[in-house]
Amino acid sequence: MSDNGNHTFEPEITAFMCIYCADMSADTAGALHVQYPANVKLVKMPCTGKTDVKYILDAFEHGADGVYVVGCPIGNCHHVRGNERARKRIERAKKLLDEIGIGGQRLDIFFVSGGMGETFARCAHEMTERIRALGPNPLRAKERD
Ligand code: FES
Repeated sequence: MSDNGNHTFEPEITAFMCIYCADMSADTAGALHVQYPANVKLVKMPCTGKTDVKYILDAFEHGADGVYVVGCPIGNCHHVRGNERARKRIERAKKLLDEIGIGGQRLDIFFVSGGMGETFARCAHEMTERIRALGPNPLRAKERD
């Protein structure tokens, strides 16, 4: 239940994930029957280094209440440094989201290896709970007014 006074709010969350470790960890979660919230829409990327800030802003503009990125552990990116670039980009995007009033807390990045199905699921739970507490994306809230 939300602590923002909106008890019916179910967040819509977009997760950009790489097709290597992150996708494998999602498969591992499935194989282990580890449940994670249906609120999360998964978007596969060749590497988190391909997660342009524009994609993140587009997701919020199209109604996502939260966005996160899941990639290979630092040092294990299949494109060498893609996840390091993604981490820097996410930090920049968080500042931008703060500046434009959406809020940087609605965005995060996680690193998992292929066998970490439970961690993959925990990221989805953590983001869903966080966004549920924050309430709807302010852009969506304005649309409803
Ligand atoms: Fe997974 Fe680069 S291939 S983060």
